[in-house]
Amino acid sequence: MSKATNTRRITLTDLVDRKGQDPIVCLTAYTTSISRLIDDHVDLILVGDSLGMVLYGMDSTLGVTVDMMIAHGKGVMRGSEKACVIVDMPFGSYEESPEMAFRNCSRVMAETRCSGVKLEGGVEMAETISFLVKRGIPVVAHVGLTPQSVHAFGGFKSQGKTDEAAERIVADAKAVAEAGASAIVVEGVMEPLGVRITEEINVPTIGIGASPQCDGQILVTEDLIGLFAEFKPKFVKRYAQMDEMITTAVIGYKDEVRARTFPAPEHCFGFKGDK
Ligand code: KIV
Repeated sequence: MSKATNTRRITLTDLVDRKGQDPIVCLTAYTTSISRLIDDHVDLILVGDSLGMVLYGMDSTLGVTVDMMIAHGKGVMRGSEKACVIVDMPFGSYEESPEMAFRNCSRVMAETRCSGVKLEGGVEMAETISFLVKRGIPVVAHVGLTPQSVHAFGGFKSQGKTDEAAERIVADAKAVAEAGASAIVVEGVMEPLGVRITEEINVPTIGIGASPQCDGQILVTEDLIGLFAEFKPKFVKRYAQMDEMITTAVIGYKDEVRARTFPAPEHCFGFKGDK
């Protein structure tokens, strides 16, 4: 419970119970300020490793570190008291062994106080997910277009286009659900596959470029507010053009500084008129 407001934070267990009910609303946040703005309106906040690309200008998520995720996770937790906050495990921090995953995931949970972690992968990560869950670490899995495998995929390409590829993704989703994942992000797959996975597994699916039939949806907040112009995947809908608003504001400031109309008297201490 938050001391200030007695707000009870949404748990992953609450979200598991929402399977097949009203859609679960999820967004990413990397900072306290965005977290504060979205906390009242979403069920789940993901501190996504997409921050490497969106905030740090990296060309993929591969350069993100555990320390970066912890720093941003702490910031997001400071801004949120209602939403379930999940922190992404970055590339190289969990794949090698269940023990290595436990060391890094437990550090992320202890230092950020988040509600769980997310990691990418299907069948090959099932053993690790089971190991973590049995030791008290709630896990959200991520299948389909998993950005940490961008080089193996040959780019950010939608997945599950052949029958064989679709069957592999269904097997991935089933394996991580059976291993104990509380929810599964399904990214960048053919729409009927998003429907099929949602119907065939018993934990919520959180779609991003998957299907409106998923149990929830997630987007990168900077994508939906128009603050990440580098590229726009087909599944992104822009609900605002913040990039244009920022440019307009900065040009307004520049013009007023050059014209000496900013700062105005009301922005000055002890202003005595024109000199
Ligand atoms: O890193 C991220 O932001 C994500 C979401 C897009 C699902 O994994």
